[in-house]
Amino acid sequence: MAATLQVENLQTHFFSRGGIARAVDDVSFAVQRGEVMGLVGESGSGKSMTGYSIMGLIDEPGQVVGGRILLNGRDLRLLPAEEMRTIRGNRIAMIFQDPMMTLNPVLRIDTQMIEAVRAHQDVGKHAALAMARDALVRVGIAAPDERLQAYPHQFSGGMRQRVAIAIALLNKPDLIICDEPTTALDVTIQGQILFEMQKLCRESGTALIWITHDLSVVAGLADTVSVMYAGRIVESGDVAQVLMQPRHPYTHGLIASAPSRNPPGQPLRQIPGSTPSLLTLPSGCSFRDRCARATGECVETPETRIVDGRALRCFHPMTEAPPGGAA
Ligand SMILES: Nc1ncnc2c1ncn2[C@@H]1O[C@H](COP(=O)(O)OP(=O)(O)O)[C@@H](O)[C@H]1O
Ligand code: SF4
Ligand SMILES: [Mg+2]
Repeated sequence: MAATLQVENLQTHFFSRGGIARAVDDVSFAVQRGEVMGLVGESGSGKSMTGYSIMGLIDEPGQVVGGRILLNGRDLRLLPAEEMRTIRGNRIAMIFQDPMMTLNPVLRIDTQMIEAVRAHQDVGKHAALAMARDALVRVGIAAPDERLQAYPHQFSGGMRQRVAIAIALLNKPDLIICDEPTTALDVTIQGQILFEMQKLCRESGTALIWITHDLSVVAGLADTVSVMYAGRIVESGDVAQVLMQPRHPYTHGLIASAPSRNPPGQPLRQIPGSTPSLLTLPSGCSFRDRCARATGECVETPETRIVDGRALRCFHPMTEAPPGGAA
């Protein structure tokens, strides 16, 4: 069966006076029905722009300049704008870092949710309200009837994000993209929301992309993981395999530098150097001026190849496990 989402050689560029930023540079991955993919990388690596590209939400000065975005086999890039609007919020939904990107501050929750249902389904107000109530229950909101009559400002940050998630679930989309929706929340709530989302998507067959800068967040909950660096996916595969035996030096560095793996009282093992600006990337492998394994060969761009059952962009894959043992 075809993947719910198959992204092939996606390229999204931002054009500015300073040059062209290749925010998404030849990105390919697939997510199956009911599967959770973690999209991981440092800030500025192109995670959000990958999500926005899939949603058809890239605005000037950015542009999707190449590749295919196949949703159940149909290329979203070839659809007329109007058809894409119908698909957005219906077949694909995105939960943004800031829930207020989804919520309207001046409308009651019931009004917003009923509108979201009726924009895509031919149902009456009462039926739409029942669906809204059901969605709130599914994301763990107690006293849904009372909550439906409230305005966004009457909710805590965590509750607001839950409402945004409930809205994304309303039309039972084929694909949900969550863009670090829990970074502002405390760790316990993060874990809870992720766990609930994973369960809901497994049940409904929805494919889920969970964007985060924190590898440990997806460790126990994602099926696959794709690691992004400077606009490219450098390593992707089964989550346990990639975390236990990372083959890309960047993935290795990310895992080794996780606070949980560093003994207290000792300096953090950090990846040397800092995240580069996309306008001043080195040619070839973009990681090469931070990489201990770089050789003359790395001035060429490593193509993606399959190594040990995962997709890898590196001329000299690692063989040793990260310090502190397996993830
Ligand atoms: N509005 C914009 N104008 C110019 N460049 C942008 C804009 N938005 C994003 N970019 C470029 O895209 C890159 C990736 O951004 P983003 O996907 O938001 O990163 P992430 O979500 O991984 O933190 C940025 O580093 C920047 O170079
Ligand atoms: S291709 Fe070369 S520079 Fe890039 S990560 Fe691999 S070894 Fe390091
Ligand atoms: Mg982002």
